[in-house]
Amino acid sequence: MEIMSKVIEAIKARRNIKAFKPDMIDEKEWLSWLEAASFAPNHRMNEPWEVLVVGPETRTGLGHKTDFGGAPVVLAVLSKPAPTPLERDENVMAVSCFIQNFMLAAHEAGAGVFWSSIGASPRNREVLGVQEGYDVIGVLGAGYPAEVPEAKARTPITSKIAYLP
Ligand SMILES: Cc1cc2nc3c(=O)[nH]c(=O)nc-3n(C[C@H](O)[C@H](O)[C@H](O)COP(=O)(O)O)c2cc1C
Repeated sequence: MEIMSKVIEAIKARRNIKAFKPDMIDEKEWLSWLEAASFAPNHRMNEPWEVLVVGPETRTGLGHKTDFGGAPVVLAVLSKPAPTPLERDENVMAVSCFIQNFMLAAHEAGAGVFWSSIGASPRNREVLGVQEGYDVIGVLGAGYPAEVPEAKARTPITSKIAYLP
């Protein structure tokens, strides 16, 4: 019960962080969050995620309007190609779970993540050198938050539930 309530607390308290302190995160630490993220559900154990560590030149090329809030680490998370549209969708779904895990692991460590969709445009795919068939699910800034935004209210979940006969 104790473990479960910590998970729920983390899910509810995690925010999309948009302003970071300049303090570096130890590489071993963010690698441990990626390793935890890889326990995400994924169909046929195909582990469809691939991660690009975005260096300074590439980061400048992306031209993000706030430079990912000054995050000390920027990662692009890709979903690998698939032979059918269903399998491609499933890969995207699994990679989204991977990113959520990464965000929660960072949150637990007192850090935070900015999930940006800036990598999806054709221009930024080229900046990232993304090959045909890959989807860019997020370009993530990670670091220690300078500001944590207030939680945005969620719609009562009962209004989203239908009971089938
Ligand atoms: C697929 C996806 C793409 C997102 N892209 C952006 C983005 O480009 N810019 C941004 O500010 N937030 C982006 N977000 C974060 C959402 O804006 C954020 O999760 C939402 O406002 C709820 O806030 P919270 O995560 O702090 O609860 C994205 C989230 C998802 C799941």
